[in-house]
Amino acid sequence: MVDLIEKKRDGQELTKEEIHYIIENYTTGDIPDYQMSAFTMAIYFQGMTDKERAELTMAMVHSGDTIDLSEIEGIKVDKHSTGGVGDTTTLVLGPLVAAVGVPVAKMSGRGLGHTGGTIDKLESVPGFHVEIENKQFIELVNKNKIAVIGQSGNLTPADKSLYALRDVTATVNSIPLIASSIMSKKIAAGADAIVLDVKTGAGAFMKDLKESKELAKAMVDIGNLVGRRTMAVISDMSQPLGFAIGNALEVKEAIDTLSGKGPKDLEELCLTLGSYMVLLAGKAESLEEARTMLVEVMNNGKALQTLKIFLEAQGGDGSVVDQPETLPQAKYVIELEAQEDGYISEIIADAVGTAAMLLGAGRATKESQIDLAVGLVLNKKIGDSVKKGESLVTIHSNYENVDEVKQKLYKSISISGSEVKAPELIYATVE
Ligand code: URA
Ligand code: CA
Repeated sequence: MVDLIEKKRDGQELTKEEIHYIIENYTTGDIPDYQMSAFTMAIYFQGMTDKERAELTMAMVHSGDTIDLSEIEGIKVDKHSTGGVGDTTTLVLGPLVAAVGVPVAKMSGRGLGHTGGTIDKLESVPGFHVEIENKQFIELVNKNKIAVIGQSGNLTPADKSLYALRDVTATVNSIPLIASSIMSKKIAAGADAIVLDVKTGAGAFMKDLKESKELAKAMVDIGNLVGRRTMAVISDMSQPLGFAIGNALEVKEAIDTLSGKGPKDLEELCLTLGSYMVLLAGKAESLEEARTMLVEVMNNGKALQTLKIFLEAQGGDGSVVDQPETLPQAKYVIELEAQEDGYISEIIADAVGTAAMLLGAGRATKESQIDLAVGLVLNKKIGDSVKKGESLVTIHSNYENVDEVKQKLYKSISISGSEVKAPELIYATVE
């Protein structure tokens, strides 16, 4: 291992055998954390070639179990988002692309901190659960084109250890390490093809566009090198996506969007990502054709019907689709009033996410209980004009006193005296 650390430190390319040796022996504990720390720091400074990145990804895939989705008919396309606040895309995209015949076999997690998890959101539908057997999961995808299962088994243990190590050794922010970490998890979970939504802006992991593009390109290159067709969209996270932040509130937002009545930014991002998924799944010849198919199922009710069938197949009360008011409701609905006239110039996404977490919508620690009913609904987005006294945000709370949340929101929303342009939603696509 000392020789390999030295080799990387001096900027030489490691072979496939050397990379697999390191990952295998780190997973078993035979390479200690202190040597792995030096190795990741060497990568941080020296980077990795395309071939090294692909080998590192596959070594991590094979460090644990892999999910076999071969019994599901068709090309399994997975979507991954690099995280964000109030990102309801997965809830919309699943039923949307399933409605045009793309198989969606989704393995999902719970939320931590200010970002929400898809499972938490879905569990706000009474009765819905993700504790299903693999066999049933596969049957449901074949029958309904969509099912969601909780993370189980020993998937990419090398990534788990490595991510924890990077977190305490200042080596998280390395493009080859981030790209291989994300791609290894998607591939181990059985994806044949992958669509990536790389967020950029204040609320994202990558705050600047140039870095976001580099990360997207790194992941697309890895995917294509290891035989998984991969495409990426770089989308805005300088403010939260859509209006709703909070579990049941986002389920309602997804229902609205699947019926073509959702926030325009969320709808547009879902149609863009969805078109790539349909194309990669081989269900359309072109992006235009894919988009037309998706708009059609939004308009004719098929997308919504697919959501209902999916929820009911996993024990959920499908009537929420027609009567979203039966989702958990908070006791208090409180408006945050604008203190001046002007134009919204900033909505700091992570601060708004933290405000929602204070209400109980997110977990401060892994052990925290979450309140599915609570959260925030933005009434204004960047560029909108506002009059003093108008509502900026509707706060859904189970506490009567929300002063702390209000303080936090006032600090994270800025109003300017002069007109402000709304940010672009999609900055680039990488293929
Ligand atoms: N998300 C991941 O899954 N891995 C990283 O390394 C960074 C973000
Ligand atoms: Ca949202």
